[in-house]
Amino acid sequence: MTITLAFDVYGTLIDTHGVVSKLQEIVGNKAKEFSCTWRDKQLEYSFRRGLMQNYENFAVCTSDALDYTCTYYKVPLAKQQKKALLDSYRTLPAFKDVEDGLARLKAAGFRIYAFSNGNADAVETLLAAAGIRDFFLGVVSVDHLKSFKPNPAVYSYFLRKSGASGSSAWLISSNPFDVIGAISAGMSAAWVRRSQEAIFDPWGIEPTITVRSLCDLNEQIGGYF
Ligand code: LAC
Repeated sequence: MTITLAFDVYGTLIDTHGVVSKLQEIVGNKAKEFSCTWRDKQLEYSFRRGLMQNYENFAVCTSDALDYTCTYYKVPLAKQQKKALLDSYRTLPAFKDVEDGLARLKAAGFRIYAFSNGNADAVETLLAAAGIRDFFLGVVSVDHLKSFKPNPAVYSYFLRKSGASGSSAWLISSNPFDVIGAISAGMSAAWVRRSQEAIFDPWGIEPTITVRSLCDLNEQIGGYF
């Protein structure tokens, strides 16, 4: 059976906290906290826009979340500073294990896609800047559906676009909400738990497998069948 892998992008392939060094220039030692609040709000805004059926693309969620975070930390940003932060969000670094992990999966014959809340242009730019675009057969973005993960419709959309089906399609994500969303929609899912501090939501839905690094995926997915 050919296995199709849907890689989540932000937080799984690409490190959203790659903005921390730029943030340090602006908010000093609050940079890590600021980055976490920014990311949490970005996701919250995507969930709320999905529920409200009031879609704006993910870059709008990112920009609005930055405004919220600046107000929260009482850090007024000049237009140029805001632009610089949002620009750096378009070229964030990949996690260290990504290139090696993807190379192993590709060599083993998996069909590999990127599957993201981000719009296709933003994801193409990110993957190219991180030097990993060539590992992917394609980019599937929720933007075409005008909704966000974890709406079950976006996981079905991925299956249609990639020509995959049900449990032979795996979502690979560090985001527990995404793993739970994919499993609820009938896919298999690997949770990438790079940090032992990461917590999985206690909903009674468990990841199909859990890995510490993308380099372990090939063996663990292979061993699952
Ligand atoms: C994505 C968000 C969930 O890339 O991080 O889809």
